[in-house]
Amino acid sequence: MSQLTYLCLRCREVVAFVASADDVTCARCGARFPLVLGSIPVFLDEGMKEANFYGEMFREAATRYEERFRVEAEHGRWVLLRLLELEPRMRDAFGKRVLEIGAGTGHLTRSLAAGEIFPFRTLVVSDVSPEMLAVNWGQRTETEKGRDVQMAAFNVLKTPFPDGGVDVVLGFDVLHHVLDYRKGLREIHRILAPGGVLVVKEPYREAYRLFAFLAMTLLRDRLALTFRDRRKVTAWIRHFSRLIRSGEEEDHAALATVDDKYFFTREGVVRDGKEAGFGEVSECNVLERPRESVFEGGNFFGAMVVDFFRGVGLSRWGLRSAAALARDVDVCIGDRFLKDYPVNTLFVFRKADRSDV
Ligand SMILES: C[S@@+](CC[C@H](N)C(=O)[O-])C[C@H]1O[C@@H](n2cnc3c(N)ncnc32)[C@H](O)[C@@H]1O
Ligand SMILES: [Zn+2]
Repeated sequence: MSQLTYLCLRCREVVAFVASADDVTCARCGARFPLVLGSIPVFLDEGMKEANFYGEMFREAATRYEERFRVEAEHGRWVLLRLLELEPRMRDAFGKRVLEIGAGTGHLTRSLAAGEIFPFRTLVVSDVSPEMLAVNWGQRTETEKGRDVQMAAFNVLKTPFPDGGVDVVLGFDVLHHVLDYRKGLREIHRILAPGGVLVVKEPYREAYRLFAFLAMTLLRDRLALTFRDRRKVTAWIRHFSRLIRSGEEEDHAALATVDDKYFFTREGVVRDGKEAGFGEVSECNVLERPRESVFEGGNFFGAMVVDFFRGVGLSRWGLRSAAALARDVDVCIGDRFLKDYPVNTLFVFRKADRSDV
């Protein structure tokens, strides 16, 4: 195992950690942190374990997540390629120190860690959930194993990096799960070097309006859903409407109990990024759906719709109805056909260069 050098969460010094079979020890203050699978240090102190909605049970919840969201793997690769196309300046960050946050089971990790699309000097793959990282670790490829890739569990609210310790931070579908994501933005700003970049992909609010519309349509069809499906769909619609309505006055107590906490707006993210200290915040365009060919034999829109309803927990019967609806739906809202709705947004935050300060 390569040497582990991180900022110790207890003594706040950058130190080499000494590894034993099941934990790592700070060479300076002696703080011990558990080690999962002999390779993944867990830098979580009490309070920082919260927000792990994927289950405390080692592997099980994470494996279920992986089964539910299979469509995302190809999507991860596609989004990374699209990022380079839309933001050519990202190429300036090639060959540097990269951190992936909220990596989950590895939908972005696989295309990042191979180092081909986005070459890096070092890559740290992280998540608040050691369970998710364990699944991610198990899916490494031979190419990745020869590169400087480490995994570590920690919360974006409290990371084991010194000020300016990384050059690029990437995260897909993470921030909208973090209750205090503004604090997370400040923490990432702290660890980025001057000129460093944070890129997050987050669900696009409009796409969820579309899912809500489809959900309502399914509810109106008496045969489309089982009784339990109807209850789940109704509960999701209520949840979504509440999140949209609650707008600015965030009810943290209620948000703490749900997985999807925010559906960001462009203006809100720009404001939050600036408040966290970023010099520049842009929405790197909205991601249109990929060309059909990206999904073998597949209809991307249909795949996303079914994936969404799988997340809501529908039965096979309900999923079949959702798939049929996604295939048939051909309505226009505003000036777009539903099938052309963008599903995600990329936000790019740049820390000011020393020369700009
Ligand atoms: C929807 S999953 C996305 C996983 C992966 N990026 C993907 O695209 O499939 C969200 C991930 O964010 C992680 N997460 C949630 N809150 C976090 C936090 N405060 N710090 C770090 N990771 C967090 C979860 O454990 C989960 O793996
Ligand atoms: Zn220490």
